Amino acid sequence: MHKTPVSFSSGVDRVQLNGAGEEQLLAAIDRQRLPVHVAIIMDGNGRWATRRSLPRVEGHRAGVGALRETVEACGQLGVRYLTVYAFSTENWERPEQEVGFLMDLLMTVVEQELPRLVDNGVGLRVIGDMSRLPARVRERLTEALKMRPREEKLGLSVALNYGGRAEIARAARLLAHDVVAGKVRLEDIDEAAFSSYLYTAGLPDPDLVIRTGGEHRISNFLLWQLAYSELWITPVYWPDFRRVHLYEAILDYQRRQRRFGRI
Ligand code: IPE
Ligand code: IPE
Ligand code: MG
Repeated sequence: MHKTPVSFSSGVDRVQLNGAGEEQLLAAIDRQRLPVHVAIIMDGNGRWATRRSLPRVEGHRAGVGALRETVEACGQLGVRYLTVYAFSTENWERPEQEVGFLMDLLMTVVEQELPRLVDNGVGLRVIGDMSRLPARVRERLTEALKMRPREEKLGLSVALNYGGRAEIARAARLLAHDVVAGKVRLEDIDEAAFSSYLYTAGLPDPDLVIRTGGEHRISNFLLWQLAYSELWITPVYWPDFRRVHLYEAILDYQRRQRRFGRI
């Protein structure tokens, strides 16, 4: 572990953190008021690599460690659901070589990590259009996803070829299909009914959304589900994201007052 203290600006205080700070932050988290569902826009891999004069794909590779640590930390804390944005419907526009690398990396990571995750009570699902993934990736992912934990402690959703608008359009199409087939009456279409056609059917909406890499935007992530989520943005690039950052985000979340439009 590097010893350089990392500084965080949180609320009114500016706290200098080191190894001990991590434990203090952890101790300060109120376990009764954890966000039930945390969603993360894992951004900044390319810039992390470029800053080190490395090819962008090395940033993606380095991001795997951050994901491993985050999943572990969420599991230990008792966060019930974690959703991570791994590849967007717009990310196909990147150079073919980067897209290919990401696909292989995601597939390998799922295959290699899943047995251990399942043993630890992590249930994995993919949200997004898997039909557009390269056949080889799709087949191996589908096979790996059959592994289920005996009892799910943490529900991990990986957003892969995911786009919020595409998800909403797909839900509308599926719902319209059921209306035409006489399974759903027009007057029964409400927010809850519509939600049940989304990839996230059955999951609570995210309470806390973390975006690394410093951009202040949603980038087509969970457009429907984020209606009242709390946002926490850090300039830290995804490969540098550690437990302390997660704890800091949760503490900041716990200091906020959620109003949902009320006073
Ligand atoms: C996020 O990092 C990972 C994916 C979008 C797949 P980026 O690759 O977007 O990194 P930056 O934002 O260019 O630094
Ligand atoms: C969002 O990051 C998508 C993922 C993290 C997978 P992007 O890098 O694609 O988003 P923009 O282009 O900065 O909005
Ligand atoms: Mg980016």
